[in-house]
Amino acid sequence: MQKITIQGLQSDSQILIGEKLANANHYLPAGKVVIITDDNVRQYYHPVFPAGPVLRIGTREGIKNLDTVRKLYEGLLHLEADRSTFILAIGGGIVCDVAGFTASTYLRGVRFGFAATTLLAQVDASVGGKNGVNFGGYKNMVGVFSQPEFVICDLGFLQTLPKREILNGLAEIIKSALIKDQTLFEYLEKAFPKALELDLEVIEKLVHETVSIKARIVNQDEREGGERRLLNFGHTFGHALESTSGISHGEAVGIGMRMACSLSVQKGLLSPQKAGRIEKLLHNLGLPAAMPFDRQAVLVALKRDKKRADDKIHFILLKDIGQAMMELISIRELEEMLDK
Ligand SMILES: NC(=O)c1ccc[n+]([C@@H]2O[C@H](COP(=O)([O-])OP(=O)(O)OC[C@H]3O[C@@H](n4cnc5c(N)ncnc54)[C@H](O)[C@@H]3O)[C@@H](O)[C@H]2O)c1
Repeated sequence: MQKITIQGLQSDSQILIGEKLANANHYLPAGKVVIITDDNVRQYYHPVFPAGPVLRIGTREGIKNLDTVRKLYEGLLHLEADRSTFILAIGGGIVCDVAGFTASTYLRGVRFGFAATTLLAQVDASVGGKNGVNFGGYKNMVGVFSQPEFVICDLGFLQTLPKREILNGLAEIIKSALIKDQTLFEYLEKAFPKALELDLEVIEKLVHETVSIKARIVNQDEREGGERRLLNFGHTFGHALESTSGISHGEAVGIGMRMACSLSVQKGLLSPQKAGRIEKLLHNLGLPAAMPFDRQAVLVALKRDKKRADDKIHFILLKDIGQAMMELISIRELEEMLDK
């Protein structure tokens, strides 16, 4: 088991890579523990949950809203949860985001921790203290920055995860390598077949390296004033495609990263040869190169981007593999990119 510490402005968070959910009692306080999970995760893993009442939420992005949070508040009231109650979220990014927000706001905040059960949650969603829900058609519009006391990344969970969900996590791992770590990218180029087979040693290294990258960024810029924005690489087009076409997050971010690479080449920042290596890795992992999309709908989604300032968007480009930079790019330029 490997431990990485996130130093939040208000509190720290221990990310426990390779720890088992069965050992959760080592990290839980003695008092009342309420577990929040989703229907799928409960079905698979209920026998290894620590003791405590369980509140369930549904699945899919549509339930990540204030109505679900309201139901959780009601459940907590019903269980007479008080300020000494500890909330343990066991699930993917949706469970962690919703439960983290609920815990941070119920009674002005109670203690909480996560057991992240998807690869995406282990390398991204559960790490860094952003918790929130969607509102008014905008993703993660209402939320807080607050760190879970611990995150258990039990790699055994990944064995039951559908391949599509594994690819969602791998897309975020590639993103992290591209913005910060050339060595990790080179490792991925060699180790991708084993990563796809979920070879434990390879997956543990990938989770560890990716969490280390995010921890270094968050420790510098928890509130996303600058450096943390680099983590949005591939996500401007990615989110717009995901919200308008129904493709998976990994597929959308894969295409978004390809588009951001093309723009980087076009601006003379990234060599075509390096962009080719990136294309090849995405292809080898089975992430599609392009998808038919509704140009108008994607444009509307781009204009709703939270990273927008007037008619420009904070866009992340690559100078090299492992080196990202932020540039303000006009919507018009992105529109031209879409047409290509
Ligand atoms: N807070 C952040 O910093 C941050 C960062 C990235 C993403 N996110 C959010 O994370 C969410 C996506 O998270 P996700 O990809 O984990 O999706 P998810 O939580 O929807 O989980 C994916 C699916 O896998 C199922 N599942 C979970 N664990 C399983 C397991 N071990 N075995 C079998 N099935 C399992 C779930 O029930 C669900 O159906 C999005 O809402 C996104 O906005 C948040």
